[in-house]
Amino acid sequence: MPPGSAPETISILGATGSIGLSTLDLIGRNPDRFEVEALTANANATALAELAIRFRARLAVVADPAAYGELKAALAGTGIEVAAGPSAVQEAAVRPVSRLMAAIVGAAGLAPTLAAARSGATILLANKECLVSAGRLFMDTARRHRARVIPVDSEHCAIFQALDSNRPEAVESVTITASGGPFRTWSVEQMARARPEDALRHPVWSMGAKISIDSATLMNKGLELIEARHLFDLEPERLSVVVHPESIVHGFVTYADGSVIAQLALPDMRTPIAYALAWPERLATPMDRLDLCSVGRLTFESPDLQRFPALALAQQALSRNDGTATVLNAANEIAVNAFLQRRIKFPDIATIVDKAVSRADTEGVGDVESLEDAVALDGWARRIAGGFISGLLTPAG
Ligand SMILES: NC(=O)c1ccc[n+]([C@@H]2O[C@H](COP(=O)([O-])OP(=O)(O)OC[C@H]3O[C@@H](n4cnc5c(N)ncnc54)[C@H](OP(=O)(O)O)[C@@H]3O)[C@@H](O)[C@H]2O)c1
Repeated sequence: MPPGSAPETISILGATGSIGLSTLDLIGRNPDRFEVEALTANANATALAELAIRFRARLAVVADPAAYGELKAALAGTGIEVAAGPSAVQEAAVRPVSRLMAAIVGAAGLAPTLAAARSGATILLANKECLVSAGRLFMDTARRHRARVIPVDSEHCAIFQALDSNRPEAVESVTITASGGPFRTWSVEQMARARPEDALRHPVWSMGAKISIDSATLMNKGLELIEARHLFDLEPERLSVVVHPESIVHGFVTYADGSVIAQLALPDMRTPIAYALAWPERLATPMDRLDLCSVGRLTFESPDLQRFPALALAQQALSRNDGTATVLNAANEIAVNAFLQRRIKFPDIATIVDKAVSRADTEGVGDVESLEDAVALDGWARRIAGGFISGLLTPAG
């Protein structure tokens, strides 16, 4: 940022989450560079009010209307505008700002992030489910309205950087890495007994609950393949995953001449967030620097699709129509929730998703042409997945 320039304005959808808080940590360290416009949360009014006051936001919004009274009371006399409900989140998303951090978890982020794309915003995209649920629609909308989409997921940030200055026609393949999650070395029998607290104990990354479970099933990597397909407009055959337990190499691009360009960094989400916040510049960050001699060894292995069938399901969805990915995503959200509530076992997550995707196939689910299509299909898949979960819970199931 040239000296004397006005600060950039930033809004954050999902400000109270893991990505939201890491973004605010960086903003707080650069008070001359960034100003906060709007912050949103789902229902956590106390945390949102505290952040809105600390970062002098102009607007604070909760998606859950039941949390409005608490937010209003907590912000009384501060001059900060307060609003509630899904339409208020959408309004927050289209407020003119320099950059919008889209960090709501799940398909709930689709409508506001799509609205931001329609408004031509610069979107820092963490909410991968939005691209899984309606990737083609989202990217077409962004292109039509000249919105810029800068990936925040560490793997996609890596690919974005490795692609940045090169010729797209010379790209042979793109590989994203996976830590392998907490069950990388667990047997099928051990995973059958895994509890939510085991699955939430990620060996490398500290993240929100939903993505932590997705990392344990490796569905997260499958969602990321679908995300990469849409973000970088790449055919499924050019996309692959390798397991890399040290999580130092986040992704790499192989070019036609055999050159491979990778991005490396210590696993801290503030690094890709800083990249997205400053792109095309670089933001100085306080994190430890990578010391390859102290890391010593980087290892890589192929993912085991037998033990991690969720990744295989997502890989299959990658080559099918958009609607399959919408169903996969919605069924996964429902199944992850049921596992977190201890209603189903860990392996049931992939089973539920498999059943929902097969049902969608039988019913001839097709492409997603509009937000209404995506919302209707997402709702259908949630009901179907809920039905399969109830089936598992009854003796006959
Ligand atoms: N965490 C990571 O390291 C990481 C890395 C890469 C990508 N991502 C992606 O980034 C996104 C956010 O992940 P996270 O780990 O930060 O999640 P998180 O910690 O669970 O936070 C989610 C945020 O979304 C809000 N939210 C939840 N449901 C909502 C709804 N229905 N409507 C509006 N807002 C809602 C939450 O508000 P409340 O606090 O009120 O519930 C919270 O602010 C996900 O798509 C994830 O896959 C995360």
